[in-house]
Amino acid sequence: MQSQRIFTTQEQQLLEELLVHRRDVRGNHFLKKSIPREVIDKLIKAALAAPSVGYSQPWEFVLIQDQKTKQAIKKTFSEETQRATLQFTDQKQKEYNALKLEGIIEAPLNIAVFYKPKNGPVLGQTSMPDMGKYSVVCAIQNMWLMARSLNIGMGWVSILDPEKVKKVLHAPSENQLIGYLCFGYTDMFYNQPELELRKWDRKKLQNEVVINEKYQ
Ligand SMILES: Cc1cc2nc3c(=O)[nH]c(=O)nc-3n(C[C@H](O)[C@H](O)[C@H](O)COP(=O)(O)O)c2cc1C
Repeated sequence: MQSQRIFTTQEQQLLEELLVHRRDVRGNHFLKKSIPREVIDKLIKAALAAPSVGYSQPWEFVLIQDQKTKQAIKKTFSEETQRATLQFTDQKQKEYNALKLEGIIEAPLNIAVFYKPKNGPVLGQTSMPDMGKYSVVCAIQNMWLMARSLNIGMGWVSILDPEKVKKVLHAPSENQLIGYLCFGYTDMFYNQPELELRKWDRKKLQNEVVINEKYQ
C-alpha cells in the first residue's frame, strides 16, 4: 500500500486556478502547432483516471487528425447549425449566427468520445441507466482540466448529428457519442466564458442554485 497523498494549500490553490481558468476554446483561437504523441497520451491517461459507475470504464476514444475526416464531421455541424438557427428568433438568432461554436478544422486534434454499453447489469447502474454515460462525461472533464494544465485548449462540439458522426468514424452500432472534442494550442484563453463576454447569458449566482435542505 502506498502512503496516502496529502495536498498542500498551495496545491489546492492550483486546482482552484485550473477550475477557474478552464475555458471552452473555439476555432478562431487554435494554433496549427500539432500536439505531440506523449502529450496526447497525457490527455487519455487523465480520461482513464476518471470515476465510473461500478468501475465499468464504459468509454472509447477515437483520435482524429485526418483533415478529410474532420471535413466530414464539419459537414454535419453545418447542417445542424442551419437547423439550430431556426430555433432562435429575432435578436437571439442574429447573436447566434455571429457566434463561432466549434473548431473542428482548426484544431489539430479532434477526439470523439463514446459510451460503450456493457452486456448485462452494471454495479450501480441498475436503477439509473444513464450513469454509464455520466461516467464518460467525468472522463471528458478530466481531459478538459488536464488539457488546460498543459496550456492546451479544448472545445466541446455538440451541434452534430451523432448518427452521422458514428457513420463517418465507422463506430459500432451500440456505441453512443457523448462528446466531440477539439484540442490544440491556443493564442489565448479568455478569463471568463466567451458566452458571458458576448452577453449570451450571465453567470448564475450561488444563491440561485443552492437549496437549503428542501425546495420550498
Ligand atoms: C456538454 C457540453 C456541450 C457543449 N457544446 C458546445 C458546442 O457545441 N459549441 C460551443 O461553442 N460550446 C459548447 N460547449 C461549451 C459551453 O458553451 C461552455 O462550457 C460555456 O459557455 C461556459 O464557458 P467555459 O467553458 O469557457 O467556461 C459545451 C459545453 C458542454 C459542457
